[in-house]
Amino acid sequence: MMILEIKNVVAGYLPDVNVLQGINIHVSQGELVCMIGPNGAGKSTVLRAISGILKPSQGEILFGGKSIGGLRPDLVLRQGIAHVPQGHSSFPEMTVKENMLMGAYVLNNRAERERRMDKVYEMFPFLKERKNEKAGNFSGGQQKILEVGRALMLEPKMILLDEPSLGLAPITAKQVFETIKSLKNEMGMTVLMVEQNAKSGLAIADRAYVLELGVERLEGPAQTLLSDPRVAELYLGGTLKS
Ligand SMILES: Nc1ncnc2c1ncn2[C@@H]1O[C@H](COP(=O)(O)OP(=O)(O)O)[C@@H](O)[C@H]1O
Ligand SMILES: [Mg+2]
Repeated sequence: MMILEIKNVVAGYLPDVNVLQGINIHVSQGELVCMIGPNGAGKSTVLRAISGILKPSQGEILFGGKSIGGLRPDLVLRQGIAHVPQGHSSFPEMTVKENMLMGAYVLNNRAERERRMDKVYEMFPFLKERKNEKAGNFSGGQQKILEVGRALMLEPKMILLDEPSLGLAPITAKQVFETIKSLKNEMGMTVLMVEQNAKSGLAIADRAYVLELGVERLEGPAQTLLSDPRVAELYLGGTLKS
């Protein structure tokens, strides 16, 4: 079942209002979809258009069959879409626990907040072990997992992840990719992610898109794209390695 449908969306920033030039992307329930493509292709812009930071000038964005294009970010969030942006978005001076509670600030019910926090702690035990430590003491990968944990406090139906492995050492990046895989496999979460590390992104994804100049240039099963010579040439370092 299709949960997210982006149809012929045009969106951008002043003065370049056509960064996305009529893009089409869809994600099914429980699917892990990865977008790859060169810098400036519009990958982050797609996520911003979904989460309501940018208003499309044309086209449609449907979530669960309902139009969310142009809806305010807080309302998109309430529809069940959480966005973990590029870079660091945890609060370094706050503890893990405080960061997690920030994720659920919309919830007035304290018991419900605690219940959700316990669920996230169960999934990522190191967050529980270090719940009273400042997030700023964490490695980049641990902060990223904390950001994912914070997003889960909203019990979203879908998570948008923008370059979760950016700037991470290979071993930490691997842990982050494992975490993303477990979101899908253990929670049945629907994920749309952007990755500059095309090989690792495709390795965990069900399906993928290659974006170029604001449109979807290629689309298909991630495994198929991994062995597509056009993708290999441009995004996997020129040769097909396992
Ligand atoms: N906040 C912004 N204001 C103006 N232009 C922007 C902004 N963010 C991105 N752009 C432009 O939009 C285009 C696509 O950017 P982006 O979606 O961030 O690409 P990607 O994530 O694929 O690297 C680029 O040309 C970039 O310069
Ligand atoms: Mg980007």
